[in-house]
Amino acid sequence: MCGIVGYIGKRNALPIVIDGLRALEYRGYDSAGVALWDGAKIRFEKAAGRVSALESRLSRKSTLWNGKSAIAHTRWATHGKPSDRNAHPHADCQGGIFVVHNGIIENYAELREALIREGHSFLSETDTEVLAHLFERPFLSSGKIFLEDAVLEGLRHVDGTFGIAVISKHDPEKIVVARRGSPIILGVGDEEYLVASDASAIVGVTKNVVYLHDNEAAVLAPSQMQIFNLSKKAIQKSVDKIDWDISQAQKGGFDHFMQKEIFEGPSALENVFLGRLIDPPTGGGSAKLGGIVAVRDRLLRAKKIIISACGTSYYAGLVGKHYFEEFAKIPASVEYASEFRYSNPVIDSDTAAIFISQSGETADTLEALREAKKRGALALGIVNVVGSTIARESDAGVYNHAGPEIGVASTKAFVSQLGALALLALFLGRERGAVSDVLGQKLVRELKAMPAKMKRVLSGDAEIKKLAEKYLKYKNFLYLGRKYQFPVALEGALKLKEISYRHAEGYASGEMKHGPIALIDENFPTVALAPKDPVYEKILSNIQEIKARNGRVLAVATEGDAKIGKLADDVIFIPQTLEMLTPLLSVIPLQLFAYHTAVLLGLDVDKPRNLAKSVTVE
Ligand code: G6P
Repeated sequence: MCGIVGYIGKRNALPIVIDGLRALEYRGYDSAGVALWDGAKIRFEKAAGRVSALESRLSRKSTLWNGKSAIAHTRWATHGKPSDRNAHPHADCQGGIFVVHNGIIENYAELREALIREGHSFLSETDTEVLAHLFERPFLSSGKIFLEDAVLEGLRHVDGTFGIAVISKHDPEKIVVARRGSPIILGVGDEEYLVASDASAIVGVTKNVVYLHDNEAAVLAPSQMQIFNLSKKAIQKSVDKIDWDISQAQKGGFDHFMQKEIFEGPSALENVFLGRLIDPPTGGGSAKLGGIVAVRDRLLRAKKIIISACGTSYYAGLVGKHYFEEFAKIPASVEYASEFRYSNPVIDSDTAAIFISQSGETADTLEALREAKKRGALALGIVNVVGSTIARESDAGVYNHAGPEIGVASTKAFVSQLGALALLALFLGRERGAVSDVLGQKLVRELKAMPAKMKRVLSGDAEIKKLAEKYLKYKNFLYLGRKYQFPVALEGALKLKEISYRHAEGYASGEMKHGPIALIDENFPTVALAPKDPVYEKILSNIQEIKARNGRVLAVATEGDAKIGKLADDVIFIPQTLEMLTPLLSVIPLQLFAYHTAVLLGLDVDKPRNLAKSVTVE
């Protein structure tokens, strides 16, 4: 939700922050802006629309835009509609202080009123603008003051969340940064420093980073960086190294990030399994999870598991519930993080709470984690982004290692989340004695075989594109699945909604006759998930019921299934695997189907309207 980036150092800052904005655009893309200190004054430019709109405005003046420090922003509107005026950076009354902000200032209305009473005038409808005026206050009263002191003083009045970067002509050779609740990462180069909402905007310049934590601030100057808390007490922090490359955050020959990431599913799964599968010549197979060793005993004592997440990560959690109950024989439930945190959950130290998040920054998931910890539960994270807030605040966890996911619609992260959940369930099942040696080995063997099976499904891409063409005329879809396929139905429908704006409902197939069947006619097709598993016959009956009402059916079924072709209008085949692992295969055609539908409709698949990759507001 909004991306911020800043640079200070020996190079011209403008191209660096513009590159940064492009990398961050997936976080928000309704307007963008930049402010640059050119050695004499602050220049700024803003534009509604994509980063490219800002760039074309800048291209007319770029010769004048030369300076060693700059801050920039790409917006996902919360307060005030997308417009030039509401785009960041926002400035104080005299245009002396410029702020970019990710987060929400909850008490902005009161602050704005108070500042207006004091004589400040506002140009935008945003919550962010109050920050610029708050930071202006100390300069008005005391004249000579450091920018960081003015920022810290201003932040004392603020409720809500912020990740900010500030520059000022009053104290120009620095960028002041602060965070509470919104991610901030600092880049440490050779006599140059960066600030950004995430590493993708930094990795092109340096791989050395410092993660700023909540209630921390920093001053970045060309040759030094100071970090302190919001009371200005100095803090020593270590410099970490990003373990991925800029090329991983580029399209690499694919037309879209989403397409590239769907095709990265098999390698994402290989990466989550790397060094974690135990496959002894004798004895049982199991999983080795370094990230949970420290909490092993507490985890094994847990009497129940609660999984909480949002969006696609939540659907991965629904699959995980079955894993834990079926293989570890431990009761498990799944809750939307936004519901869990307000539900007064009955959890205690006998509960293992698992939080799944690709970004590790989703505000609702983070707050749910904090709530669970407050109530004494063991908090585990299944997180992709290393060093993210959820990863840091979890007691322990499993990193996905799926690499950067840029497409707003999550694809490879889902696959790797299922991989991480399967590993955790296998580990728990073995340790709790619920999975026998033989079953353990069988599971490990099949987990290892999955990436190759996924590649086989991906090789059917051209056929799936043809099906997308065939079904392009339909505006409404029903996705049906049972047990392991129910979350896949939900995820498939979500993918279609997110990027093609087609209405799609995911349903538990058994519930079809309690309502959705009323919708079925020749214009309302059904995507039926029907792999050969113990509930196969049930879904066949559902397909028959749909056909009896003139509904069209596109089925996903297991290779060699001769029956289904006689019932469904179209069939996509996936290889045979263990029931628990079918979601890893059946989700791929649904990802591709949504992708091709959106491309055929001429839509921007990587940046669908109204959405953002990382939702850091409630
Ligand atoms: C947003 C994204 C989804 C994602 C969800 C949860 O809505 O558009 O793709 O599934 O957030 O994000 P997380 O990073 O916590 O997995």
